[in-house]
Amino acid sequence: MSPIALCRSLLCAALAACLSACAGNGMGLDQGGRPLPPGGLGGGVLTADFNSIQQNVFTPICTVCHSGSNAPHGLHLDAANSYDQLVGVPSVEQPTILRVAIGDPDGSYIIQKLEGTAAVGARMPFGGPYLTQAQIDQFKSWINAGAANN
Ligand code: HEC
Repeated sequence: MSPIALCRSLLCAALAACLSACAGNGMGLDQGGRPLPPGGLGGGVLTADFNSIQQNVFTPICTVCHSGSNAPHGLHLDAANSYDQLVGVPSVEQPTILRVAIGDPDGSYIIQKLEGTAAVGARMPFGGPYLTQAQIDQFKSWINAGAANN
């Protein structure tokens, strides 16, 4: 093989490796196709507990809008406020539905907003990229298990 042909085939192999690794199958990419930080959303692995949800989703993604005096519907998702403003608290858009209803993920407004099934307003995070179903399932497991503050 001539040096040029060898070089071409190496380049091709590298490109093929990248294409298969970066093909938007969820490995390392969010649903908008953008690369995730190493290890997950906030640099860690999202698990079904409140600390992980806070560190990996609320703080890095949601507080861009949900903090400060203009927080939509008064919902602050920074670490100092998020739990108290979610668990057992009626949503503003659908006051008969709690933002987090302990033991009832599908009846929790935050899940409806994350999955895009809420009757009012947009899917969250507003404008995307949206969480994967596997990530939303961690929220659901946390709610099912009692929505503890840890
Ligand atoms: C780019 C700004 C933005 C981001 C980021 C964002 N939101 Fe929102 N959020 C809004 C706006 C604006 C509304 C009100 C309008 C609507 O519902 O479409 C809202 C409404 C909500 C509501 C309804 C509150 C109620 O009481 O009715 C929930 C729940 C919510 N967001 C959760 C989240 C979560 C969880 C995240 C992160 C995964 C997130 N949002 C990220 C802008 C944002």
